Amino acid sequence: MKIALFSLLVMSIFLTGCDDQEALVIYTDRHYETDDAIYDAFTLETGIEVEILSASADELIQRIQSEGVNTPADLLFLTDVGRLERAVDENILAPVDASILSAVPERYRHPDHFYTGVTKRARVLVYHPDRVALSDLSTYEALTDPSMQGRIVLRSSQNVYNQSLFASFIELNGEEAFDSWLLGLKDNLARRPSGNDRDQAKAVFSGEADIAIMNTYYMGKMAFSDDPFEREVAAALEVFFPNQDTTGTHVNITGLGVVKNADNKAAAEALIAYLLSENVQNVFASTNYEYPVIETATVHPYIDAWGTFNEQPINLSTLGDWYQTVSIKVDESRFDQ
Ligand SMILES: [Fe+2]
Repeated sequence: MKIALFSLLVMSIFLTGCDDQEALVIYTDRHYETDDAIYDAFTLETGIEVEILSASADELIQRIQSEGVNTPADLLFLTDVGRLERAVDENILAPVDASILSAVPERYRHPDHFYTGVTKRARVLVYHPDRVALSDLSTYEALTDPSMQGRIVLRSSQNVYNQSLFASFIELNGEEAFDSWLLGLKDNLARRPSGNDRDQAKAVFSGEADIAIMNTYYMGKMAFSDDPFEREVAAALEVFFPNQDTTGTHVNITGLGVVKNADNKAAAEALIAYLLSENVQNVFASTNYEYPVIETATVHPYIDAWGTFNEQPINLSTLGDWYQTVSIKVDESRFDQ
């Protein structure tokens, strides 16, 4: 069904001749070699060349704004719904044809189709089983318990992964609950927030902390890393999905939308349909250890071994309401100091 739809789209591009030899241009803050292989396969299948411009999300958004109607960008592909929401706020995306998104659950796409999730990741607790009993773990909220004093690590509160987790906390529990949770969490940190997600796992491995808040795919990347130390870290640690009996684990997406001033809108939609096809969803899952957004696609066996879990029951686009509040509150709390 999806393949048939995709073929139709591609055919219509050839028939109408709107692919006038111009390459499809993707601006992205993803930097995975595995993505390049997917674009190569798309070119092979459709004859549409793909060009990539990589930079940070902020740089790409600014660039699209300053290029205006002359932008070469057709698609903007960003990690984290917080950045996609920023692109919507800046009015640089155009809605896509909803029919190509029908296989994507509603909570992973913008209600007016300005972007869709392509892959997802959960922000989980990673712990050392020698120092943490499974019965010690339950919820994000419970990380503020006095028994957790000096045992928790996470990266900077300025990072969008944490800002999205914090935004989801406000969406589910309100601002007041967030204020006290944020202070309680800060009190229980083993060190000032620093480094990336993998560094948090390494801190737990080394004994500097017992529990890290981090994204699932980094465990997969470390487990299959070329670096023997990273493999050792992943092998020693366990993954816990918090809030299973309450509000669910925080899940986020990487996703993309069509740029408002794109020249190649039909080809851009064809690529979106391609990325959402079951085969390509399987490739994302098997090579980058992310979860597919299409429910029928296959999760990598390493990730699948953790089992299924309950997610926060919110449409991710609602987080867009809270980033400004989160930003003010983390600054006020001096969370990273
Ligand atoms: Fe990441």
